[in-house]
Amino acid sequence: MSRKRVAILISGRGSNMTALVEAARAPDYPAEIVLVASNRPDAAGLASARAAGIATETVDHARHGKDRESFERALDAALAAHRVDLVCLAGFMRLLTPWFVRRWEARILNIHPALLPAFKGTDTHARALAAGVKIHGATVHVVVPEMDSGPIIAQAAVAVREDDTPASLAERVLAAEHRIYPLALKLFAEGRVRLVEGRCVIADAAAPDATLLVPQ
Ligand code: GRF
Repeated sequence: MSRKRVAILISGRGSNMTALVEAARAPDYPAEIVLVASNRPDAAGLASARAAGIATETVDHARHGKDRESFERALDAALAAHRVDLVCLAGFMRLLTPWFVRRWEARILNIHPALLPAFKGTDTHARALAAGVKIHGATVHVVVPEMDSGPIIAQAAVAVREDDTPASLAERVLAAEHRIYPLALKLFAEGRVRLVEGRCVIADAAAPDATLLVPQ
């Protein structure tokens, strides 16, 4: 089995990155993490990646001013230098331009802390509580130019409690994220995810293994 070479893009603490790195340690995992790149030099996750023995790169968006394409060309060069096959966004807080997304078409995954298509964007947990939803969760999807859209690979659901705060809900959703992202990357890297008319069809998913209801 040839393992897919994966880069993880982060902007902050990188707990999802760590979950992917740990999953990829298993010898039968179909992907290896060859690079962790950040657009912020102070991202805490860079130190965790180095401690785990993963190559890191910083492509500081601030050095590119408002020129998104020049930032993305630098990022693209870093990915090429590490012969990356797939890109996982994990708390990467930069919008990618259509140029970059098309260049990496069907090769970028993202994790979003809500059950898409509900609650795109930021502050998802506070907005979920304000809306009074009873089930919340996380989604891993293929990246398309439109933000927080794109074919859904896997979702994890978390029950909302009456006394939840955005922080308490975020904590349980994050634990679900750490389970579902390695699962989604595994399905994708194994070639079990087929894109059909804007949806993901998962091969051999007799048991719905792309769905995770996290017990409370
Ligand atoms: C996660 O909740 C992720 O879903 C969102 O940003 C957060 C990043 O957390 N996009 P971490 O950096 O992976 O710890």
